[in-house]
Amino acid sequence: MAPDLKKPSSSVSILGLGYVGLCTAATFASRGIRTIGIDIDEARIEQIRRGRAPVHEPQLGEMLKRVVKKKLLDATSDVSRATDTNTSFLTVGTPSQPDGSIDLTYVKQATRELGKALQKKQSYHLVVVKSTVIPGTTNGTVNPVLEQSSGKVVGPSLGLCANPEFLKEGTAINDALHPDKIVIGSNDKKSADQLTRLYREFYGSRLPPVITSSPETAELVKYASNAFLATKVSFINTIANIAQHIPGVDVNRVADAIGHDPRIGHLFLKAGPGYGGSCFHKDVQALVSYSQQQGYDPQLLKAIEKTNEDQAIQVVELVEKLAGPLDQKRIAILGLAFKKDTDDIREAPSIRVIDRLRNKGARLVGYDPMAMPNFESVFGNTIELAKSSHDVLKGGDCAIVMTEWDEFRRLKAKDYIAQMRKPVLVDARRIYNPAEFRELKFAGIGFGSEPLGPGSQAEPS
Ligand SMILES: NC(=O)c1ccc[n+]([C@@H]2O[C@H](COP(=O)([O-])OP(=O)(O)OC[C@H]3O[C@@H](n4cnc5c(N)ncnc54)[C@H](O)[C@@H]3O)[C@@H](O)[C@H]2O)c1
Repeated sequence: MAPDLKKPSSSVSILGLGYVGLCTAATFASRGIRTIGIDIDEARIEQIRRGRAPVHEPQLGEMLKRVVKKKLLDATSDVSRATDTNTSFLTVGTPSQPDGSIDLTYVKQATRELGKALQKKQSYHLVVVKSTVIPGTTNGTVNPVLEQSSGKVVGPSLGLCANPEFLKEGTAINDALHPDKIVIGSNDKKSADQLTRLYREFYGSRLPPVITSSPETAELVKYASNAFLATKVSFINTIANIAQHIPGVDVNRVADAIGHDPRIGHLFLKAGPGYGGSCFHKDVQALVSYSQQQGYDPQLLKAIEKTNEDQAIQVVELVEKLAGPLDQKRIAILGLAFKKDTDDIREAPSIRVIDRLRNKGARLVGYDPMAMPNFESVFGNTIELAKSSHDVLKGGDCAIVMTEWDEFRRLKAKDYIAQMRKPVLVDARRIYNPAEFRELKFAGIGFGSEPLGPGSQAEPS
């Protein structure tokens, strides 16, 4: 029997069932909160209604199966079902425009449809903007669209909050169940109180710190958070690129040492080929564009992006240093996903590196345990794809580790030697202990000035 969503306890509707919306919906439902997921993608809805996850995310499939079976979560394309709940979250995408600024088309559309559905609702309804939106969007865009489409005034009968999401792909369910904070931006106490009550019901005694602010502050918290993390990555990559010119230096040791300072910390100081994924690049670009519109040119943020973009050059230079001119060389790309445990290739550093290697005439063969279907659907047969992590190495002149998959960590020096025409390896993710790869020509991001070769001394990691 379908749950009676008109009962007075909390019930939520989630508009947009992508990574964020679906993980949010599944976790709400897993805590017994009756949840309706709404999307415009019928195929996606059909899959969810059958308890199947349309995206690869650890723990999501199991959780979805359970909550759908218990009828705690239903999915529909009928937005009027939102009126059966007392809180609606907007979790639609906020992509970039070609100039880097935020595209609010989906936010406006979903708000308009929700507003129309709320026209006849008598009781109080809270609308929560969970999508990442630039400061001023909740009050300046969502509010007027909602008022116009619902015929109501935001305030006593219609609540509105900004409540950014901080979960990460690959650990989204765990992040949603154990967030380090909840940020609620509102203009009135009534809406903030209803949202806090909902989270109290969700988390019980484990309620994390709830930070209340204006909607604009809450919106900026999300951008500041992603921009800071992107800064840490570009910072340690800058140190790595300097370290590469100094004999006997290893950036991992530098990162570990500075991380002991509590003002710095250990996390997000892993040198590599640069950040990727659907958020960092998009959000830093949107913040730069927004800031410029306000009349302030954020030099630091632009440098973070440029450093990240250029990190692909560093990887390719290491390849050339070890393998010589790249024309007609066969290069193995180990990993296409932007990080391990996801099939997501959006903004992946592998794509930037592949692009540069192709321009230099290299012949490329790639392998990824999870992301090859996504890669193929976007890039077709621009590069050859291999069947396994051993297969990809066959006949290669150089191999590059682009994603830190556990499967690649298990490869030993002898595996590279057995398969490759020339055993040359660039560890762009620093997953290997260089001391164990002395028999290969080996280089890693941020590792000394001399590429290792047979018989050379490596500092143990
Ligand atoms: N992916 C992440 O790791 C992450 C983390 C934190 C925050 N965010 C932010 O959360 C938001 C959503 O991101 P995502 O990655 O889940 O997006 P996504 O692109 O994976 O999913 C968006 C979903 O919204 C649906 N949709 C579009 N218009 C709709 C409408 N009118 N009504 C109902 N559904 C509609 C789409 O069909 C799609 O299923 C973005 O603002 C993003 O920046 C993302």
